[in-house]
Amino acid sequence: MATILAIESSCDETSASICKDGEILSNIIATQAVHHKYGGVVPELASRAHQQNIIPVVEDAISTAKINKKDIQAVAFTRGPGLLGSLLVGTSFAKGFALARNLPLIEVNHMHAHILAHFIDDPKPKFPFLCLTVSGGHTQIVLVRDYFDMEIVGETNDDAAGEAFDKTAKILGLPYPGGPLVDKLAREGNAAAFGFPEPQIPGLNFSFSGLKTSILYFVRDKKKVDPDFLTNNMADICASVQHRIVTILLKKLKLAAKQYNISHIAIAGGVSANSGLRQHLQDVAEQESWKVYIPAFQYCTDNAAMIAIAGYYKYLRGDFVGQDISPLARMNF
Ligand code: KG4
Ligand code: ZN
Repeated sequence: MATILAIESSCDETSASICKDGEILSNIIATQAVHHKYGGVVPELASRAHQQNIIPVVEDAISTAKINKKDIQAVAFTRGPGLLGSLLVGTSFAKGFALARNLPLIEVNHMHAHILAHFIDDPKPKFPFLCLTVSGGHTQIVLVRDYFDMEIVGETNDDAAGEAFDKTAKILGLPYPGGPLVDKLAREGNAAAFGFPEPQIPGLNFSFSGLKTSILYFVRDKKKVDPDFLTNNMADICASVQHRIVTILLKKLKLAAKQYNISHIAIAGGVSANSGLRQHLQDVAEQESWKVYIPAFQYCTDNAAMIAIAGYYKYLRGDFVGQDISPLARMNF
């Protein structure tokens, strides 16, 4: 029997979750609105907001789970990768909580946790499977052999897929975070309205920085001829850009599936919430006879439930760390 408290604080979400024997009892997420007016996450403001949020968020997670603090048997936390100041808040809180109650501490790699979120609900993937992890900072194709035996077989050479969405939104004058807004507008638009170039990157790696530049020039040139171009074509631009990002992602995923002869395919991370990606993945799955795993929306973007489930599998192995642990902005996979 294991009741675990998990903390996530790697970027701009302060989150706490309670997991009992692999079942998520609560998953509280405080999103930091303070960054919106700056058009991106301001690291120093994020750390301060985490400090304000962490205690109420943990208390909420404990009361929502209908457990007592005394029932908690281990504390899991995101060690990295992420913003160092933000990670420090969650790590210090986890260490303090564990020290005061003499509980074991469990470090979790945020990128592993995005993938292991697939082990929260049924059906759970069977090993080995391939996972396309697409977030604000990472774009990876991961060969998952076991819970903690994972290998990155493809990744981005420059921008992440989430960054491509966010930067597109910024060029279009939409507020941060732009991904969900581009997704929403794309639903009303024609994906074939405008063509954006496909990067020619060999193998399983990605590149999104060229796409960003081509959108920038496209908008600049169109606005010269028609100052109202953006306003009149917003949905079509969003749909066309989203279509391009999604086709880049799925082309490489198809290549990876062939190369590794694996037909169990998962997606994870913030961009896996994208409706275009989810739909297109289902279509490709039908053509290729894949079994696909698409996470519930609340487990796509940053959350502590994924840290809790990763922590649970580490707890079963007795994989604990000492009080001398410190967070890592960059962390080996
Ligand atoms: O995994 P996540 O919450 O945080 C990181 O670990 O980075 O991912 C955040 C990213 C942001 O770039 C956000 O714009 C993007 O995920 N995102 C989306 C959608 N929801 C979140 N991008 C496209 N469509 C969405 N529906
Ligand atoms: Zn994330």
